[in-house]
Amino acid sequence: MLEGKLVNLRVMEKEDLPLFAEWVNKPEVFGEYNPLIQMSRTEIEKNYGEKKLEQTEFFIEGKDGSRIGYIWHFNVMHPAGKLLEIGYFLVPSERGKGYCTEAVNIMVDYLFLSKNIERIQAQTDVRNVGSQKVLEKAGFKKEGTIRKLFFLRGQLRDACLYSILREEWKEPKILTKTQLKQHAP
Ligand SMILES: CC(C)(COP(=O)(O)OP(=O)(O)OC[C@H]1O[C@@H](n2cnc3c(N)ncnc32)[C@H](O)[C@@H]1OP(=O)(O)O)[C@@H](O)C(=O)NCCC(=O)NCCS
Repeated sequence: MLEGKLVNLRVMEKEDLPLFAEWVNKPEVFGEYNPLIQMSRTEIEKNYGEKKLEQTEFFIEGKDGSRIGYIWHFNVMHPAGKLLEIGYFLVPSERGKGYCTEAVNIMVDYLFLSKNIERIQAQTDVRNVGSQKVLEKAGFKKEGTIRKLFFLRGQLRDACLYSILREEWKEPKILTKTQLKQHAP
């Protein structure tokens, strides 16, 4: 468990898949700037069972243990790359409370502390102001626009590419040394 002040990140377990399937199939949870997806629980369980390189899925949990969102990191294919990408969403009722910003901060701390990577990146629809603000608040910089990256609601859409480098991160913001020490065996 990765603990923040507002939220925790907990690795997704098989028991979480029914709720995840419910979320995936509700367009309002993915939001208007993510592809419209419908997936059976069988397909979701199959994907979960396939071990993919440098990919981990987390549930974002409130301090009372309620499951309020999702954040994951995944491998971006590049033969010489030392980078990972992240993606996230919150259920509509929990938005606007600073939760996703903290979840991204925790994820950035975790990835730079645990993986030998130099860069974490994220891509978001150019109109997704909320997601861009989350990334900027978490120290990401906008690198540019990727043209016609996403097929959304019947149209190809441009996306912004954001990243944070290890040298810009410098040190953990949420997973402080004290917290990590407390949880050490
Ligand atoms: C985008 C999303 C993840 C933001 O999560 P959140 O927990 O509501 O964000 P936060 O509360 O941490 O807000 C961070 C900042 O963004 C602002 N913000 C959040 N949503 C916003 C919106 N829709 N429009 C404008 N600003 C917004 C907040 O006001 C805050 O700024 P402030 O501190 O200056 O007030 C959430 O709205 C969501 O899950 N959307 C649907 C899925 C999605 O788009 N995922 C991202 C795909 S790239």
